[in-house]
Amino acid sequence: MRTDTGQVINLADYQPTEFVLERVDLTFELDPTETKVEARLIFHRREGVDPKASLVLDGDELALSGLLFDQMEMPADQYTVTPESLTVRDLPASDPFELTITTIINPEANTKLMGLYRTGGIYCTQCEAEGFRRITYFPDRPDVLAPYTVNIIADKSANPLLLSNGNFLGGAGYGEGKHFAAWFDPHPKPSYLFALVAGDLGIIEDTFTTMSGREVALKIYVEHGKESRAAYAMDALKRSMKWDEDVFGREYDLDICMIVAVSDFNMGAMENKGLNVFNDKYVLADPETATDSDYANIEAIIAHEYFHNWTGNRIACRDWFQLCLKEGLTVYRDHEFSADQRSRPVKRIAEVRHLKSEQFPEDAGPLAHPVRPIKYREINNFYTTTVYEKGSEVTRMIATLLGKETFKKGMGIYFDRHDGQAVTIEDFVKCFEDASGRDLTQFSLWYHQAGTPLVTASGSYDAAAKTFSLSLEQMIPATPGQSDKKPMHIPLSLQLFAQDGAAMAPAFVEGAEYTGSVLHLIERTQMAVFHGVPTRPVVSINRSFSAPINLHFDQSPADLALLARCETDHFARWQALTDLALPNLLKAARDAREGKTVGSEATFVDTLVIAAADEGLEPAFRAQALALPSEADIARELGGNNDPDAIHAGRQAVIKHVADAGRETFVALYGSMTTPGAFSADATSAGRRALRNAALTYLSYAEHSPARTKAAFDAANNMTDLLHALTILAHRFPDSAEAAEALSIFRDRFAENALVVDKWFSVQATIPGAGTLDRVLKLMENPLFKRTNPNRVRSLVGTFAFANPTGFGRADGEGYRFLAREILDIDRRNPQLAARILTSMRSWRSLEPVRQDHARLSLLEIERAAELSTDVRDIVERTLK
Ligand code: ARG
Ligand code: ZN
Repeated sequence: MRTDTGQVINLADYQPTEFVLERVDLTFELDPTETKVEARLIFHRREGVDPKASLVLDGDELALSGLLFDQMEMPADQYTVTPESLTVRDLPASDPFELTITTIINPEANTKLMGLYRTGGIYCTQCEAEGFRRITYFPDRPDVLAPYTVNIIADKSANPLLLSNGNFLGGAGYGEGKHFAAWFDPHPKPSYLFALVAGDLGIIEDTFTTMSGREVALKIYVEHGKESRAAYAMDALKRSMKWDEDVFGREYDLDICMIVAVSDFNMGAMENKGLNVFNDKYVLADPETATDSDYANIEAIIAHEYFHNWTGNRIACRDWFQLCLKEGLTVYRDHEFSADQRSRPVKRIAEVRHLKSEQFPEDAGPLAHPVRPIKYREINNFYTTTVYEKGSEVTRMIATLLGKETFKKGMGIYFDRHDGQAVTIEDFVKCFEDASGRDLTQFSLWYHQAGTPLVTASGSYDAAAKTFSLSLEQMIPATPGQSDKKPMHIPLSLQLFAQDGAAMAPAFVEGAEYTGSVLHLIERTQMAVFHGVPTRPVVSINRSFSAPINLHFDQSPADLALLARCETDHFARWQALTDLALPNLLKAARDAREGKTVGSEATFVDTLVIAAADEGLEPAFRAQALALPSEADIARELGGNNDPDAIHAGRQAVIKHVADAGRETFVALYGSMTTPGAFSADATSAGRRALRNAALTYLSYAEHSPARTKAAFDAANNMTDLLHALTILAHRFPDSAEAAEALSIFRDRFAENALVVDKWFSVQATIPGAGTLDRVLKLMENPLFKRTNPNRVRSLVGTFAFANPTGFGRADGEGYRFLAREILDIDRRNPQLAARILTSMRSWRSLEPVRQDHARLSLLEIERAAELSTDVRDIVERTLK
């Protein structure tokens, strides 16, 4: 374990390297426990650098076994080596010069899954952010770009495949049952994009002809026997390649494009140049084992990693503070891709739900940080939903402010100006200033100020003057290290509607810029006066979620119902339905807490049921509307002193009201929303399944019996329906014979399929109520539970902590104590995984006092542990601060 050095890295300290790396030549002699790595690095001194300067290279748990300078043994008094660094002093004057470094590493013992490790019998690497330094001593930072040659030597029968970045140069036998392969990547890249994979895998192949007519070989490698399950990923890859050409004019730049799916992986996937490595969860799918959301995730992540080839790889980040430069932008690109492939409004609803349930709590808690942070202790802890999802929202706002065409022009400038460079957020923003002539200085605060802005709006109509005045106020809450915030430039997409639902066009607007139906809020308080408004308007603000803000705008249920019926922006319709639901859910939680009977207001229930039955609305949209705000959403809106049990009970009661009121509608939908014929994963069929399953959920409340759901379980011919039915049985009727039977049928049928077994664990980890902890403890003894597999640990421990507010947050604090024990155990093997799961505690301060106390004590227990990784120490200390 690397003990914490407590070192803080500051953006302000950035300095370019003194030595420029020209070329990298790597030779790997692979062995499960003793892999020899020879790195030949060619450097020259940057102009003006002191000729006496020492060269300092990064390492992490490394052992040096040889060091040559220009092919001559380096005298021992000229360098200092530790597992964490190699410093070479008194370098001879030759320039450029070559350093040859030999290290011996043990892939089998690498349980952190950073650097070179073993998974499912194959060799695999993960180098972002700082994994390359676990392979060899290196200037392991994103602004050091060089072309790489990679030679791989390995036992031939165990490793018929030897893969690395770039184009294949050639291979041959190497005696004694070994063989070798050589790869060359001509595109200068940072070390975090290095990859090596070796082993015995199955393959599916295809080709893609780029817009300039070059043929690219496409290869997806999976475990033998799983080839057919990679077909959807291949299709998504080809669609991504085409989309990036059509929309951004970006073409692929190597002869071969490879994806490897592995079962042990700390994250979703990794965009290594020409050789993406994926968590197999985001590659493998077939109707029998993958849900519709699995398909959607695969499509999105395949696209995401592919899009990185331009946003991240061709144009890299100068330093890790600029992580959002590649991640926020690439998430924006994959969101747009999915919106084009599927239903744009439904995709937007799903994005916003995710943003609000994951990023908003992060931004409101102790782990809040700017999209572009200015300091970190452990960079792995900054692969956050703020950097990714809020980063994407900031990019989206640039597109909203500038308009689609000018945005694309700015992207064109970015690609032309910075290709082959490692750049900053400032460089990126400048491209859009140049494209538009707009000053984006104030807008850039979105990158620098943490916290979700709260916009408070109120309107008043003057019938005599025919004006509508909208007063707006923005407040950005204090966040760790940032107490005083400046007002931000907030683009609010806004539309006025007449009482008959027709859109109104005001003659002109005073007090705020209002162009292309976007109102620019730039002051702390601002009054926009709309002139030429014939009747009292109903206002729709922040349509399509044009800005990632909390909006307080008191609208009557009648106005919201009108928007739910008439808004042309379907995201805004969903928002209106949600705004109708929320006060009911908040009141229900309060009433439940006080032991009062919970009631629901009629406008809300009726509007929701009418929307559910509206044939003019896409089924997927209706399913989204029926999925009421979650318990986490309610907790966030309540803001503090939260009792998860009351939130749960209140929400259950509201669901029951909707179920009873809409029973006939739900019966009809359950009957009509079938998907006859062969299974298709397309968005339309998925939408029908989603709506039918939403109806089934409500029916399980209206009918008080597992019978219909058990019949659905028995009849299901795809994983979406099967898992949905299983979830209802387990969550709604946990003690029933039907639930027990379904869980055991499911386990027996899929015990051989790791990704489905993960689902089996997750369904049980999310059963509401205090009793689930015992179930989780028992499941950890199950032979199917594998502590070394990150997906499995996340599916049980992670899901329990993140997604079971009543079980994990049980009043006696046992859930938090369980988590503390598990974190310490996981941390010994895999700090990144431990730190990530620990972020489930980020909202502990919004709990009621008794739970808060338990939570704090458990956090302190982690903090007190004698040995903690930098990763966990950083998270626990910030969480407690
Ligand atoms: N760059 C990868 C992606 O988003 C993720 C890498 C995550 N790395 C980490 N250390 N958490 O596509
Ligand atoms: Zn990414």
